[in-house]
Amino acid sequence: MNILILGSGGREHAFALKLSQSNKVSTLFVAPGNAGTAEIAKNISINPTDFNAIKECVVSHAIEMVVVGPEAPLVAGVHDFFLSDAQLKHIPVIGPKEDGAQLEGSKDFSKQFMERHDIPTAKYRTFTKETLIEGKNFLTTLKPPYVLKADGLAAGKGVLILNSLNEAQFELEEMLSNEKFGNASSRVVIEEFLKGIELSVFVLTDGKNYKILPSAKDYKRIGEGDKGLNTGGMGAISPVPFADKDFIDKVEELVVKPTINGLQKDGIDYRGFIFIGLMNDNGNPSVVEYNVRMGDPETEVVIPRIDSDLLELFQGVANQNLDEKSISINPKTATTVMLVSGGYPEAYEKEKEISGISTINDSIVYHAGTINDNDQILTNGGRVLAVTSFGNTIEEALQKSYSSINNIHFDKMNYRKDIGFDLV
Ligand code: AMP
Ligand code: GLY
Repeated sequence: MNILILGSGGREHAFALKLSQSNKVSTLFVAPGNAGTAEIAKNISINPTDFNAIKECVVSHAIEMVVVGPEAPLVAGVHDFFLSDAQLKHIPVIGPKEDGAQLEGSKDFSKQFMERHDIPTAKYRTFTKETLIEGKNFLTTLKPPYVLKADGLAAGKGVLILNSLNEAQFELEEMLSNEKFGNASSRVVIEEFLKGIELSVFVLTDGKNYKILPSAKDYKRIGEGDKGLNTGGMGAISPVPFADKDFIDKVEELVVKPTINGLQKDGIDYRGFIFIGLMNDNGNPSVVEYNVRMGDPETEVVIPRIDSDLLELFQGVANQNLDEKSISINPKTATTVMLVSGGYPEAYEKEKEISGISTINDSIVYHAGTINDNDQILTNGGRVLAVTSFGNTIEEALQKSYSSINNIHFDKMNYRKDIGFDLV
């Protein structure tokens, strides 16, 4: 089969590397991809939200399945576009249609969904410009910290957690009346602050059947000790030690089953990944958010732990017989550490020469923001490489990642030296 993966990050490199190991895959294409995917697939220089360009690529390369990495094309309706086109409608797309993608595309939609289907989550109310005063009054009824969420996609920046009431009321007005996050904050969800430790559980579903994939924890802040600005993610660990069988069983009963059943009840035919961000409060799970795709860098520790053929699982999703597929998981721990450009997540420079990747034997180096320029690998983004290793313990895996990193160099390279600090 010829497969097209949409996206250009470490997540897409991890999908590509895993799919390249399937003997059912003929040619792999990644659009637009990076220097890592170029080594194992053919990169196609198109934007994943340019549907007409995707169609041309799919038709001209006889693509037989499309795997969507990021949320933007899903929320924009790439799956619906395929279904509405006579030449494309028989080609399976791994990723939900526009209706299911609302679980990530609208916080208000996802809160209503959880309320309707009795899925544990923080209490909330949604406000608009017209109800700003009610919103400010509602804040006075809550205890700090205050959680304000822009309803729409805001590049991971749309959630504010504030300690003072004044600040929360001010920011609510900024979001609703002054379009702090543009149209994404024309509606704002205000919700109760959840205590506990965060982790993520990933589900692959064909709309009826599902497989629970390994859990993971990511490290979102730029600074050690979880300080400083939010990033796309600076590292990840899988499995999460405190997410033991009892806890995952609870998540399955209280969250996964009602989510899959809820989608069916609502008439949403969902085929793809569901990323469930959870708070574990003394063994009780509560949903912080849904994403309609895999996480990045979580994919770089979850996918390499799947021993089964990923294409087989994707075929199960497409043909709605995922229940007939088995999934086997490597019991070892996987860790990944992100190497980022100096300055990220604020302004940073690109096109720095990267050296040392080919010397790494003990880790998998997934490319995130890289580009190949005349056989030279250059930096091309904030997050540049994810260095993944396996171990019998978190410590052993981390030690391998960090010792591999000692052999990789680029100007102003930065990374967190404390990934997993709270777990070991
Ligand atoms: P989200 O985009 O909804 O995942 O929110 C971004 C981050 O904000 C989450 O990963 C949590 O760390 C934090 N967060 C979101 N909602 C809550 C909440 N209700 N209580 C505590 N922390 C939250
Ligand atoms: N690492 C968090 C995310 O992919 O949203």
